[in-house]
Amino acid sequence: MISNKVNNGLNGNPIIPGDKSISHRSIIIPSISNGICEVKNFLKSDDVINTLKAFTLMGVKVEEKNNNLLIYGKGLNSLKKPNKEIYLGNSGTSARLLTGLLSSQNFNCTLTGDSSLSSRPMGRISKPLANMNAKILTNKDCMPINIVGRNLTSTEIDITIPSAQIKSGLILAALNTDGITKIIENNTTRDHTEIMLDYFDADISVKKEGNKKIIKIKGKKEMKSKNIDVPSDLSSCAFFIVAALINKNSHLVIKNININPTRNGILIALEKMGANISYLNKRYLNNEEVCDIEVKTSTLQGCDLDEDISKLMIDEYPILSIAASFAKSPSIFRGLNELRVKESDRLKLINLNLLKCGVDNKIIDDNLFINPNENYKIKSNSIRTDFDHRIAMSFAVMGTKIGPLNILDSNSINTSFPSFIGEFNKIGGMVSWKK
Ligand code: S3P
Repeated sequence: MISNKVNNGLNGNPIIPGDKSISHRSIIIPSISNGICEVKNFLKSDDVINTLKAFTLMGVKVEEKNNNLLIYGKGLNSLKKPNKEIYLGNSGTSARLLTGLLSSQNFNCTLTGDSSLSSRPMGRISKPLANMNAKILTNKDCMPINIVGRNLTSTEIDITIPSAQIKSGLILAALNTDGITKIIENNTTRDHTEIMLDYFDADISVKKEGNKKIIKIKGKKEMKSKNIDVPSDLSSCAFFIVAALINKNSHLVIKNININPTRNGILIALEKMGANISYLNKRYLNNEEVCDIEVKTSTLQGCDLDEDISKLMIDEYPILSIAASFAKSPSIFRGLNELRVKESDRLKLINLNLLKCGVDNKIIDDNLFINPNENYKIKSNSIRTDFDHRIAMSFAVMGTKIGPLNILDSNSINTSFPSFIGEFNKIGGMVSWKK
């Protein structure tokens, strides 16, 4: 895609699709609950569709009605052995969550993915599951993953890597395991799984003990389905927020955004930088906090962010780096090692592509230093994304200031935000698919 400079600001009310993390969980959890679940505003993107296909392959009845999903759940042990490998495309969330869930089912299966997903670490989920006696075979810690489904043993597991996917995979395994599984989380990560399971009457308790979170799941309790209204995705909204902040004469009101406090690091960081953002009409949707976000052009300062906040905004560093490139002073973002194992090595691609755009920045020990300037001289306008949707959309926002940028392999945006170009152009963006 090509992103061109914007001259007259970005204005209006872009529509942000449903949250990706919650959409995955809105398929997985109702599929193993009892009753019919109507899911509104689910994200119809490649990643979520791959999760959906996995469950239909395992015999779950799913219908689409007036743009909503109807999921007919029949309980914890109702999934059927798939008659072929389960292909999960680019979706790390599907891979980690399904590895956990399927390790405690009574059938064997194989999970595969595209080349990017096949190079991402899966030992981080198979190893902690081995503590529960799960039998999972990986290809040197990568996909394909062969799962030998069986009864697992409840135990206590300490999670050292900050990852909601690992935590959620373990919780899903524990749901179908006799006894109480105790999961100790040493870092705050998004808690959509815990929130939805509580809403579905699972036997789950969550307690804070100092910096740790203790999650206890009593397995084998059947869950009751309820309807879900998926809030819109803050990670997708962040591209619009930053675009409005850095372009003069901009003003957006963006409705129905999830502001779960385990996910809102990008808002905290931008406010620290002086962003003019207001939160209107705060409310709860199936126990998830949502609001409408109003954002106006702002003069941003740089900021120094420590490692702790990275857990609350791990997906937002690419777009935050674009905001930092237009601040009045330098920024340091610390402790970004997890960015190296996302859909791409995001730390490397942020550094490389900002250098192409003429932005002075460097990485020292997984800390990113950005030294902004008033005028950038583009060194190369060809942006490398390695098929990473968030890198592609972040540099589309960069293009609004310094474009035209030619963003390579950008059909990856279909993994999380297929309507991005339409919504971005509706508010004054100048993005097009390359002819
Ligand atoms: C997600 C967790 C995060 C995030 C990903 C979605 C989830 O990954 O980066 O986009 O839905 O649980 P990690 O668990 O690897 O941090």
